[in-house]
Amino acid sequence: MILEALSPIKGDYHLQNYEETYQNFRWEEAEKNFSWYQSGKVNMGYEAVDRHAEGFRKNKVALYYRSNDRLEKYTFKELKEWSNKVGNVFKEYGVKKGDRLFVFMPRSPELYFAILGGVKIGAIVGPLFEAFMEGAVRDRLLDSGAEYLVTTPELLQRVPEKDLPDLKTIFIVGKDVQEKEKYVDFNKRVEKASKNLDIVWVDREDGLILHYTSGSTGKPKGVLHIHNAMIQQYMTAKWVLDLKEEDIYWCTADPGWVTGTSYGIFGPWLVGATNVVIGGRFSPENWYKALEDFGVTVWYSAPTAFRMLMGAGDEIVNRYDLTSLRHILSVGEPLNPEVIRWGMKVFGLRIHDTWWMTETGAHIVCNYPSMEIRPGSMGKPIPGVEVAIVDNQGKELPPYQMGNLAIKKGWPSMMRQIWNNPEKYASYFLPNGWYISGDSAYMDEDGYFWFQGRIDDVILTSGERVGPFEVESKLVEHPAVAEAGIIGKPDPIRGEIIKAFISLRDGYEPSEQLKEEIQAFVKKGLAAHAAPREIEFLDKLPKTRSGKIMRRVLKSWELGLPTGDLSMMED
Ligand code: PRX
Repeated sequence: MILEALSPIKGDYHLQNYEETYQNFRWEEAEKNFSWYQSGKVNMGYEAVDRHAEGFRKNKVALYYRSNDRLEKYTFKELKEWSNKVGNVFKEYGVKKGDRLFVFMPRSPELYFAILGGVKIGAIVGPLFEAFMEGAVRDRLLDSGAEYLVTTPELLQRVPEKDLPDLKTIFIVGKDVQEKEKYVDFNKRVEKASKNLDIVWVDREDGLILHYTSGSTGKPKGVLHIHNAMIQQYMTAKWVLDLKEEDIYWCTADPGWVTGTSYGIFGPWLVGATNVVIGGRFSPENWYKALEDFGVTVWYSAPTAFRMLMGAGDEIVNRYDLTSLRHILSVGEPLNPEVIRWGMKVFGLRIHDTWWMTETGAHIVCNYPSMEIRPGSMGKPIPGVEVAIVDNQGKELPPYQMGNLAIKKGWPSMMRQIWNNPEKYASYFLPNGWYISGDSAYMDEDGYFWFQGRIDDVILTSGERVGPFEVESKLVEHPAVAEAGIIGKPDPIRGEIIKAFISLRDGYEPSEQLKEEIQAFVKKGLAAHAAPREIEFLDKLPKTRSGKIMRRVLKSWELGLPTGDLSMMED
């Protein structure tokens, strides 16, 4: 059952009147908030941290960090000093503007200092999930030509140094690090470094951050964002997250994912809010306890996490005092009306869905506190951005007709490159200026957008985007696997799970043990979240005449749906 529309919440919000703001807003107004308006130059690190450290927020807590064995807090002044120190260390080892500096480590204060330190000296920072295994790390460092890496002794084991000729220096965050050849003791060097840094002023269009993300074909692609993204991240931190001076904000995403940088670092700090970062693994108790202990007021998470909390039962929620919460948001996959209903029951609050993607760099279609929510809808475009449903030629479609969810090129936080791949970059845009998102959706007569699915075969599992090609390539590296096809299979908790259809090489027989071995192989070679939870052995996979595996057909078989046009299928 679909919920009734949920009325706007009365209150004092940054975005008080959506329609009026949408009509009148121009990005030029927002630009006046930043230094380039006066000097022509800018730096995200300055705008997000130093500006507050020099002003009335200097002793305000910028970061609370908690993990199993650490509990720390840093004011804006301290955050400025720590990131300055790190920036100085990077400089000392030769990091220059435009160099790719990757960070591959668990969430910790040092991770945030490293990202900010790199940004302050103009480096392009590439954050990697700590869950990545050797193959995934290799692909990303190689493609980006990364020269610098910050990691921990444990994760260093997964860095295939011999395959990475460009990698010059590895900063190791840990105790008693032995400095030799490429290895630098991060903590020791940072401790000694100066608190004062000559920040590197850059142009708005200079590179800031490089996120690798999956498509349906080929290896993951490096999506480059630039300092200019700050305008949109700043405005949406106000309009959508509705962050105010007194807010304690918790974004549960890791910086390995765009949500963890755009809204785990930049957005909230651009507006001077207090950020909560929790290390370690998910557990309902830990999460509710974090909300309670830090008095979180604004909470940004994902449907998969909400569904897991929902599955843990309401009895647990009731053990915690969550009255500090005032605004909850979700991103990454469709937000089920069921989850919104649960949120109303246990938190007494509407969960606000937000739609965007790595390539957009910031929010695009959202629900706002002052606006009616239609459960199941992603909401309406943010002011300053034009969104439509278009056909494959870029012709706008009328309400209720399904098509490509498209964005008019030129929004401030738009990706500016696919690293090393200008043709791929160009392929996202139609000649008449529409960026094609890869999602299908429709718009209702009041301008609300409704997500329908991915047009390509990208899988959304537990909020993470998995490219079928990358997993298939890994699978066929296993000696038993002849061919593999990957699909997303609907799952009540994870959104989708990865299912692999595999044909075996001669001499191998299907067995449970072989399934487990293949799963472990992908876990070890790529990442745990990329490993197929289900495997089915087939004699032969459905293929086109040109030899492409027809994932669409596998999916219809799996779901018991009609297979559609099979004219392209080989005999
Ligand atoms: O298919 C859409 C889905 O996630 C894709 C983008 O994934 P990623 O680049 O990893 O970034 C996610 C967070 C910024 C989209 O193309 N997606 C994201 N948000 C939603 C969503 N699907 C439905 N509803 C959403 N709110």
